[in-house]
Amino acid sequence: MTRQVDSKYVWIDGEVVPTDQASVSFFAHAVHYGTAVFEGIRCYDGTSGPAIFRLPEHLERLRRSAGEYFMEYAWTDAQLTAATTDLIRRHDMRECYIRPLVLMGEGKMGVRPVDCDVNVYLAVWSWGAYLGAGALENGISAKIVKQRKFSPRALDPTVKACGHYLNSVLATKEAAAGGYDEGILLNSDGRVAEGSGENIFIVKDGELKTNPAEESLLLGITRDSVMKIADHLGYKLTIGPIELEELLGADEAFFTGTAAEVTPIAKVDDEPIGSGGRGEITERVQTTYLDAVRGKADAAFHGWLCPV
Ligand SMILES: Cc1ncc(COP(=O)(O)O)c(C=O)c1O
Repeated sequence: MTRQVDSKYVWIDGEVVPTDQASVSFFAHAVHYGTAVFEGIRCYDGTSGPAIFRLPEHLERLRRSAGEYFMEYAWTDAQLTAATTDLIRRHDMRECYIRPLVLMGEGKMGVRPVDCDVNVYLAVWSWGAYLGAGALENGISAKIVKQRKFSPRALDPTVKACGHYLNSVLATKEAAAGGYDEGILLNSDGRVAEGSGENIFIVKDGELKTNPAEESLLLGITRDSVMKIADHLGYKLTIGPIELEELLGADEAFFTGTAAEVTPIAKVDDEPIGSGGRGEITERVQTTYLDAVRGKADAAFHGWLCPV
């Protein structure tokens, strides 16, 4: 399989190596038991040059996720920030996706991690619209998949761990098999949880609503940005459980995520949401978000950018 990403170098535990030499031991605990955590971050070419969007918040979530699975690492956020900006400059990229990954390396074999190394990786590559061309303008089709989001009683959904994504992998495959762009998972109580890699917002009668962590979801950094943008634009926003009927009966709905940005949900299970395209409020929020990530929005959002 030829590599699909244009990554040339990977940072591994303080060393920058050509991507072809970036490897993981077969005996790494992560390979056998899914003990790795990661982040997805974007760098945008903004009004003052390339800048990374909300890097401190992503690094904070990375450390918290790693801690949940006993992977403390010695690198400070300042060191990881310097390593990331250096890696972007080496690639001469103005816009890219950034993937930090912390994994449980070699140690004693067995499920219980004993004396395992902790390895930290950073990679960058070019990544356009995650849900395909036209998704941001026209919206995408989503399927309510059979797979339920795992319960917080089993694993903490606010932790961004690689093993947790088996749940999402099944959801994406089921959605794609039915010809849909993305899968939406309900939680174990049958209410809306989230997309396979996105949070969900609905709009009804001019007001926005999104669901809380207790409903089984990752607390997205884009979700948080959109909540602040909605407030800035003067929209009322409620945080509460979302019933499936509420989603289906919404005037507008959209996904949020670093990869998906603000993507309108045009249809759910073949039923149009509102007018079945990008709603007016979705478009306003999306425009402000895409301006904010490039430093074009109100100065109130400039603090979200970390120059490269
Ligand atoms: C399951 C899941 N939910 C939500 C999100 C959105 O999170 P963020 O906005 O921090 O990218 C992601 C993406 O990382 C995700 O994988």
